[in-house]
Amino acid sequence: MKTLHLHNTQQDIKQAAGILRRGGLVAMPTETVYGLAADALNGGAVRQIFEAKGRPMDNPLIVHVAEFEDIERLHLVKTIPEKAQKLNEAFWPGPLTIIMEKGEVIPDEVSAGLDTVAIRIPSHPDAHALLAESALALAAPSANTSGKPSPTTAEHVANDLDGRIDAVLDGGSCSVGVESTVITLATDPPRILRPGIITREQIEAVIGSVDVDRAVLNKLENNEKAASPGMKYKHYAPRARVILLRGDDEKYITYLNRLYRRDKSVAALCYTEDVAKTDAPCITMGSMDDEAQQAQALFDALRAVDELDGVTTVYAHCPEATGVGMALYNRLIRAAAFEVIDLPKKRIIGLTGQTGAGKSEVSRMLTELGATVVSADEAAREAVEDAQVKAMLCAAFGDVLNHDGALNRQLVANIAFSTPENTKTLNAITHPTIAAIMLDKAKKAKSDVVFFDASQLFEAGEDVFCDRIIGVIAERDIRMERLLCRDSITREEAALRMAAQFDEGFFLSMCDDILYNNGTREELYTGVRALYERSVNP
Ligand code: TXA
Ligand code: MG
Repeated sequence: MKTLHLHNTQQDIKQAAGILRRGGLVAMPTETVYGLAADALNGGAVRQIFEAKGRPMDNPLIVHVAEFEDIERLHLVKTIPEKAQKLNEAFWPGPLTIIMEKGEVIPDEVSAGLDTVAIRIPSHPDAHALLAESALALAAPSANTSGKPSPTTAEHVANDLDGRIDAVLDGGSCSVGVESTVITLATDPPRILRPGIITREQIEAVIGSVDVDRAVLNKLENNEKAASPGMKYKHYAPRARVILLRGDDEKYITYLNRLYRRDKSVAALCYTEDVAKTDAPCITMGSMDDEAQQAQALFDALRAVDELDGVTTVYAHCPEATGVGMALYNRLIRAAAFEVIDLPKKRIIGLTGQTGAGKSEVSRMLTELGATVVSADEAAREAVEDAQVKAMLCAAFGDVLNHDGALNRQLVANIAFSTPENTKTLNAITHPTIAAIMLDKAKKAKSDVVFFDASQLFEAGEDVFCDRIIGVIAERDIRMERLLCRDSITREEAALRMAAQFDEGFFLSMCDDILYNNGTREELYTGVRALYERSVNP
């Protein structure tokens, strides 16, 4: 089918209304997002909406009307509760959807078999004109392919649905940008099923206390029933993986910049204020202090993610889930399939360096000076006792447990270090747990500053949590002598071990502070003390 591209002239609106009256599909602009409209009281017409979008049939639609009186005139609901009248006075026409007990005229396709129906009176002049001209109630979900970000321009609609619907009515960009707030009056107290630009606080000011459905901010458990069926589907998802970074603004930038230095396949989904500070490619979703602008920009930003070449993961600056932020968070967390990384609240200082350079000595000195030092080696010993890690090691390397179920560390070490491939596998299995253990220890520590002592700080991905990173470096010959002395290995073995590590240039480029350890213990101590003082009092 050829999709007509119509404009908001009187003639085009007449044509669109005609299509709807004949049971066709028209994408129409609303103040929130574009909706894919059909005659709400014509079950056959409504069924085509599900086909065009690829929408699961158990997900009910919102019925749009031009005027409040239409709800009663068309018998769309059983009775109009008093709270609906109050909400109408305060927010309609506008970005609010109210769920009430449905009238008998509502086809099963619209309500997906529920005994309620969702009603909304949009404020967009073109939507209003189309509703008035057609004299219909219009069922309209967002006019996107199911699972994709909702469309906020006619172009977004065309990208998804061109050739699958009769017409698009182009009314420019939607001003709100996120879908309407959905509230049900079928429960007592009323409950918000989907947050939008009209906030809980605004609603409570009109009808008193309301609940927020658990699924708004949390992932549904496997057997949990969705109050709003739309909540259970993965949503708003670009092809690239989206991960939310939750923490303060500076930590967000640090995480991204450190990651981007060693991984060029990442990008930022961030606020305009972040752009100047971020090295990675950025897609912006408005200004930090302007939530309305963020809402307006959000879906366009999510769609733009897929236009970045070579980007496989996008790290989003996580909004606070209050006020309008609740709507933003609700959409982003679904785009991220609930993947959130909590950034540490404390100041973290990484300590790393070449083998034999004296990192452990520095770590001891820091402890002496009173620093809280979290050791990656110690975390690694705890990590391999983790049941899931043990199971993964067995899956990768065969039965590596003793009779008592404890890990046979020697056996694991032998297998893991026998080939570079196996070492990689061991690291892939253990590193995430080691990092998690270290972050947990930092969280529980009494001090506000915590040092991460880790020879594989970068390989294990602990660097991204560090506000500063100290690299300990020494000349090759000196490191060689220290290794021979310390580990009773041959010169060849020591040379191999040194060659397997990053070179000095790597540490110079990735660390913020360098401690050269080519001289005496006293000289090293002086350097460590100076760095310690600077770290604790930045
Ligand atoms: O802003 C909007 O609401 C846009 C514009 C086009 O009006 N529409 C929209 O529709 O976002 P849609 O279908 O994408 O989202 C409707 C949401 C879904 O999560 C659906 O499950 C829920 O509302 N819903 C509809 N009827 C319901 C009902 N009777 N009970 C519970 N949830 C319902
Ligand atoms: Mg939708």
